[in-house]
Amino acid sequence: MNLLVTGGAGFIGSNFILYWLKKYKEDGIINLDKLTYAGNPENLKSIENNPNYKFVKGDICDAELVNKLMNDEEIDTIVHFAAESHVDRSILDPSPFIKTNIIGTYTLLEGALKNKIKRFHHISTDEVFGSLSLDSKEKFNENTPYSPRSPYSASKASADHLVSAYYFTYNLPVTISNCSNNFGPFHFPEKLIPLAITNILEGKKVPVYGDGLYVRDWLFVEDHCTAIDAIINEGRIGETYLIGGMTEEISNMDVVLKILKIMGKDESWIEFVKDRPGHDRKYMIDWSKINNKLGWHPKHDFDEALKLTVEWYTKNQDWWKKIKTGEYLNYYKKQYGKI
Ligand code: NAD
Ligand code: DAU
Repeated sequence: MNLLVTGGAGFIGSNFILYWLKKYKEDGIINLDKLTYAGNPENLKSIENNPNYKFVKGDICDAELVNKLMNDEEIDTIVHFAAESHVDRSILDPSPFIKTNIIGTYTLLEGALKNKIKRFHHISTDEVFGSLSLDSKEKFNENTPYSPRSPYSASKASADHLVSAYYFTYNLPVTISNCSNNFGPFHFPEKLIPLAITNILEGKKVPVYGDGLYVRDWLFVEDHCTAIDAIINEGRIGETYLIGGMTEEISNMDVVLKILKIMGKDESWIEFVKDRPGHDRKYMIDWSKINNKLGWHPKHDFDEALKLTVEWYTKNQDWWKKIKTGEYLNYYKKQYGKI
């Protein structure tokens, strides 16, 4: 296969490229990434000399570049990760979310049609389904109606609808996956788990929004990669697959307490801060479709994977210390004030 991976210098995209090139040694990957604040070529240092890998710095909204790449590189498969991905930043300024997540996806879909791409796999999120109440036993599944509530999730929902429309209207061979919260190596330290770990390593408190009783369906990033692999190789064209990891509910407070315990700290390291506007209470995923149809299931247990993640951030302090400077500090001050 010749893959065009978009957003491959980000958290999940870089984990996916490393995973894919290790497993499919004959395949070629072009990584198209704009290198926004979230893109980091260091994530892919270990493969920069691999002849089957090529990095192209560019914007998925650039139709000429997108077309040229698909044509010149004889791309047959697109795996579309590129996005603005942080809910809190989408609340501060929605505009890059509208551009990249909607116009960028549209630009890639047009390119894929023109270049007769054999598979367009679109990476999306469970956040498009909105919020479950804490006392509900319901889980999101492939038939759950869309109900996005943040500029981020609304932009991802728009992208999902465009991808579906290109399948129904133009027969573009697409698949979509909606995944829950990932965590693991190379996770940008603006998101809860890496923010908590790196703050503690720096001797700073962990900011917890509101009452801390929000629930997310956590998945180790490598398990997300194996799910995408299963969909690309065995998934049915036109279908959506939900991907998640948890079987039991766990609150943000519980996640932070687990991190503190692994790192030998107590609850005094938690600082409750003002809540996120429109904060979705709970996400839970029913991942039985991908399990029944493609035989996929997560291989990592949450506690074990969390320990591995703490170890990774403890060993790779150079990686995140370089990030927690400049633009990051401006954002952090805007978002958290003095903490
Ligand atoms: P990330 O923010 O870590 O990385 C995004 C990458 O996209 C960066 O490398 C960035 O430079 C690149 N990018 C942004 N705008 C671009 C543009 N206009 N052109 C080209 N490249 C651009 O994001 P992530 O957490 O790795 O998420 C990847 C995808 O997975 C996103 O589509 C996100 O919505 C989805 N997703 C994420 C999670 C999660 O928990 N992180 C869960 C489910 C789905
Ligand atoms: O569900 C999938 C989504 O998961 C992805 O689509 C998004 O790209 C990804 O960023 C993530 O979104 P969340 O908003 O759920 O992740 P975040 O790590 O920002 O927050 C997780 C939970 O922790 C959420 O309830 C908000 C809370 N939180 C977050 C931060 C950054 C805090 O309590 N304190 C914080 O400082």
